[in-house]
Amino acid sequence: MEFANVLLDKVDNVAILTINRPKALNALNRDTLLDIKAAVEVFRDDPDTAVMIIKGAGDKSFVAGADITYMLNINAMQAREFGLLGQSVFSLIETIEKPVIAAINGFALGGGCELAMACDFRICSDKSKFGQPEVGLGVTPGFGGTQRLPRLVGTGMAKQLLYSADIIEADEALRIGLVNAVVDADTLMDYVMKLAKRIASKGQVSVRLCKVAVNEGMQADINRAMTIEADVFGLCFATTDQKEGMSAFVEKRKALFTGK
Ligand code: CAA
Repeated sequence: MEFANVLLDKVDNVAILTINRPKALNALNRDTLLDIKAAVEVFRDDPDTAVMIIKGAGDKSFVAGADITYMLNINAMQAREFGLLGQSVFSLIETIEKPVIAAINGFALGGGCELAMACDFRICSDKSKFGQPEVGLGVTPGFGGTQRLPRLVGTGMAKQLLYSADIIEADEALRIGLVNAVVDADTLMDYVMKLAKRIASKGQVSVRLCKVAVNEGMQADINRAMTIEADVFGLCFATTDQKEGMSAFVEKRKALFTGK
């Protein structure tokens, strides 16, 4: 399937979504958000792909934010609708029951940092830069930044970044827990692809149920969250992957999972 503003590729059972507006440092306008939504739905519904990697085209930027030239002249209701669109697309990424990894190769600013935060986790190159520069434009973040950033890095650090619009380097993003690893720019995709393939080689029902349990459990009190875990743990025992995984261990062989 072809999209005007994104590329959707497949390497074995790993999907790669590339935000493809390098001349605008992959900034997100309405059409790009709609293309991301459509591509994520293709991935979600494709039984042959297990993990998605999201990256930016070119070697300079992941995504440099929502498109400022688009936002310049829109009115309050249009801005509200734009915010709701971005929020819904990023929530789709967060809630589809397959893992999504952000591979960040440069600027992840504003809506770009918000897109990365909607992914399950983030790996970045040593050339990456992060920030929520919105207050420097006279606005707040609008695609989930005021909510996901404090949940990831804590309220104090989130408020510092939100209020100051400071841009931080990759090593600082690692220190505050915004990314899981910083790797050399030349090896970023190789590193993330190997990680995606390791995930894709495991029992996919259980990987997906881990995502459900973490996402839903983090929104619940601890007692309810433990019940959610018990439920998904129990559900695994209705799968052939559980029989295969445990049999393979006992028989001292490699498990051959079917995702069923
Ligand atoms: N929107 C639209 N166009 C953008 C853009 C954005 N967010 N970021 C970069 N571009 C465009 C530039 O206008 C420029 O286009 P032209 O060549 O046509 O002039 C092109 O990309 C290259 O950018 P620069 O020349 O500025 O490149 P640089 O290396 O000098 O600077 C940068 C890079 C520091 C990332 C700088 O481009 C920048 O500050 N961009 C804006 C970052 C930002 O403020 N993002 C937040 C947007 S608001 C938001 O995201 C709200 C929300 O939560 C919904």
